[in-house]
Amino acid sequence: MSELHEVRTAERIERVEHELAAHGTERIFSFFDEESNRTVYVKQAEPVHNAAWLRFSRWATITLGLGILQPGADPDGEKALRLEAGRLRRLQDRGISVPEVYAAGYNWIALYDAGENAAVCIRKDVCSYEEKRRLIVAAAENLASLHSMGLHHGRPHLKDMLWDGETISLLDFEDGYLIDVAREKRIMRDLLLFLQSIYKEAAEAGKDCGPELAQLAFSTYAAKETYYASYAKKYFGDLSVLYLLLGILRCAGSDLESVYQTLKLFRQA
Ligand SMILES: Nc1ncnc2c1ncn2[C@@H]1O[C@H](COP(=O)(O)OP(=O)(O)O)[C@@H](O)[C@H]1O
Ligand SMILES: [Mg+2]
Repeated sequence: MSELHEVRTAERIERVEHELAAHGTERIFSFFDEESNRTVYVKQAEPVHNAAWLRFSRWATITLGLGILQPGADPDGEKALRLEAGRLRRLQDRGISVPEVYAAGYNWIALYDAGENAAVCIRKDVCSYEEKRRLIVAAAENLASLHSMGLHHGRPHLKDMLWDGETISLLDFEDGYLIDVAREKRIMRDLLLFLQSIYKEAAEAGKDCGPELAQLAFSTYAAKETYYASYAKKYFGDLSVLYLLLGILRCAGSDLESVYQTLKLFRQA
């Protein structure tokens, strides 16, 4: 590392620490960095209140042979956040679109502004339907690029993606802590959660564009990442008992309804 780089890094850490002193325990906040003329978001680690429950449900799903359904959150939230900066830097070097790291500390990470939460863009009318389609295509392509490297995100919901009008950035890799799950299944799980979030966000906002956008997402993804698209189609398309069960339970809430719709998409694609 050059001396100049080290000085800059130290200055940035000092700047964030100064902001942290002013913001106290606020989990996520932003400030304007005059040096780069850009907004920076700071996220602080939060204590995981349900660590025992997370450990139990992970153990139970693995024991029952349903490891693909285990919760992806790391019971050690501080460690997960500490790993995040390195992970984002490596992904950026490999051409995956993620927010650029400004600086990182022991229990915080600071990222340059990478746009608006993608879920908000899907929900709101300020974003035209054409823009929503561009966003979905960019998201499906970015996820397919990640998967084609054999890597997974963990929970690529629209709310964990940022949209700047041109580019989608993947955020929040902390929920990718999966134990005893083969690579193929981690990746398929990502695809399921991504498509499910499209149905869910659209339905919760009272929009009927969910099925069309999810279809667009799947066809875009499949054009780029044929192997995992076919694998997911076969794997989830064959879950007939779960599909029938969800067909009965789907009226119980938007989560079940969106999983049902996603399984239906895999069966019909
Ligand atoms: N680099 C960034 N650029 C723009 N918005 C951001 C950035 N980082 C975080 N945010 C905002 O903060 C929200 C929460 O960030 P996230 O990392 O997903 O934390 P959480 O662990 O709470 O889900 C995002 O949905 C987004 O609205
Ligand atoms: Mg998040």
